[in-house]
Parts: sequence; structure tokens; C-alpha cells
Amino acid sequence: MSLREMQELTSRLWFPGARWHVGDLAWGLRQHTGRDHEWPTKIWRENGEVVAWGWAELPGHLNLQAVDEHWAGQVLDWFAEITEPESVVVSSAEPHLIGAVEARGFVQEEGPFFLQLVRNLDDLPEPAAACHPVTDVAGRVRAHREAFYPSRVTEESYRNVQATAPYRTELDVVADVDGQTAAYCLAWLDDARRAVLIEPVGTVPDHRGRGLARDVCLAALRTARDLGAEVATVSPRGDDAWPIPARLYRSMGFTPIARTVHYGVARG
Ligand SMILES: CC(C)(COP(=O)(O)OP(=O)(O)OC[C@H]1O[C@@H](n2cnc3c(N)ncnc32)[C@H](O)[C@@H]1OP(=O)(O)O)[C@@H](O)C(=O)NCCC(=O)NCCS
Repeated sequence: MSLREMQELTSRLWFPGARWHVGDLAWGLRQHTGRDHEWPTKIWRENGEVVAWGWAELPGHLNLQAVDEHWAGQVLDWFAEITEPESVVVSSAEPHLIGAVEARGFVQEEGPFFLQLVRNLDDLPEPAAACHPVTDVAGRVRAHREAFYPSRVTEESYRNVQATAPYRTELDVVADVDGQTAAYCLAWLDDARRAVLIEPVGTVPDHRGRGLARDVCLAALRTARDLGAEVATVSPRGDDAWPIPARLYRSMGFTPIARTVHYGVARG
């Protein structure tokens, strides 16, 4: 599996409504260890150039990206060969993927979904709290595990994330309370697209509601802007079952541009 090759296509195809950013792939494929056997991936090339990738999350979920409907169809055919398909997710702003998924008989499903929120970086307020790049890896992992309890992120998996392009320590920002990591924001910069992605953000339960998540996000975005970013995206849940992260990002001036569309298999 070549994450780099997947990222090459993802960077080339990126636009603000795209489902995937290079940082999503780095975080998504590296945040846990020992899952490669559950997560088969495949890359398709034409004339030497990557034109599609598929990432199955067994038993039956598919993530994909492709330059057009034809190549998306190739990914869907591979998926059906390796497992019993159950679900596929695409962005509402990627009609070629919607076309391929619907052509193979998948049907749209209601339920949890993610928003694609966007913000330009012209006018970023200063964070109120002191924020700094991560130094205490154990504390940073502990904060993530508390914020996302129960979490499968470990110090080992987090070190893998840190070793994965385009990770940069200065975009992995924390705020401390009493010397302990209380909130963090990991941001990923795609230099070629000048686009920064926030993924993920967390505040430990005891320190929520004090503006710390907003502060670490603002600090990370300001650094990203200094490094050349012009636009930021983030993908919180959009349904009513998990509304707080979207409120956080809207309070920072992010606005919706697209959402995920979830497909399942027609039954009966
Ligand atoms: C989402 C999360 C990071 C917010 O952290 P936080 O430090 O409590 O957030 P802040 O105090 O910075 O809040 C900033 C804004 O978010 C919104 N917000 C935060 N918590 C809220 C709540 N409980 N109810 C309503 N709005 C809320 C508000 O708009 C708030 O601004 P305001 O205080 O001026 O009204 C935290 O709840 C968390 O870690 N959740 C679990 C992990 C997660 O879901 N992460 C995000 C997905 S990547």
C-alpha cells in the first residue's frame, strides 16, 4: 500500500468540497496500528499517473477517490471482488463519484453524516490562551484518548502519525492547564493546494467550555497561514446526534460547502 501515491491523487484533485485531503489519509490510515489486514487499499494508474484509489474498511465499507466515473467504477468493481459491499461514502460535491456509486445500485441512506466546512485565512483572531507545538507526546496522546474516549490511538500509533507526510510539529498545537495537555489541534498543510485541514481537535472533558479548542485551532491556522495556507477545511458531524464540533467551527467563521452522502445496499 502506498499512502504517498494515494496522497498524490488526493492533492491533485483537491478542491474545498472534496471528501479527501492529504491529511485525512495520513490521519485516517496511521492513527491506529495493526489494522492493515482490515484496510486493503489499491491504486489505479493510467500512463503512469495515479487516477484512482480505493480503501476498503472490512467487512464492507469503501472509501474512494477517482478522476472520473469510469475509474470510480473500477474501484467499485474491485471492492465487490474482495468483499460483500455494504456502504460507500462520497462528497455531495463529487458528482462523478455519485454517478458511479448509483450506477452500481447503491442507494442513498439517512443517518449520521459529515459537513465540509471552509474558511479563508485572511482574518484570524489571536488565540486568548497560550498555545504551543506539541512536546509532551505522552500527554498529547493521553489528551486525545480522554477527548475521544474510547480511543485506539496509542503512543506508538501517534509516533507513526508524526512520521507521516505532511505532518509538521508546528501544526500540532496544544494548550496546557497546570502543565498538562488540555486541548490540541492537529492541522495538515497541503503545500501544493495551499489548503490546511484540521483533523482532529480535542479538549479533555474537565477543561471544556473555556475556549481552549477555539484557541488551539486559531493558533494552528495562524501558523498554517504563515506557512502559505490560504484556505482551511474541517469535517465535523452534521447531524443532530453529535452537534458540538460543528458549533465550534461555525463559531470560528467556518461555513458549509458540501456534506458526505452515504450509500448502502438495496435490501429486499
Ligand atoms: C468539540 C470540542 C473539541 C470542543 O472543545 P471546547 O474546548 O469545549 O470548545 P470551546 O470552549 O473552545 O468552544 C468554542 C465554541 O464551540 C461551541 N461549543 C463548545 N462546546 C459547546 C457545547 N457544549 N454546547 C454548545 N456549543 C459548544 C461554542 O460555539 C463555543 O463558543 P462560545 O463558548 O463562545 O459559545 C470538545 O467538546 C471535544 O473534545 N469533543 C470530543 C472530540 C470531538 O468531537 N472533536 C471534534 C471532532 S474532530
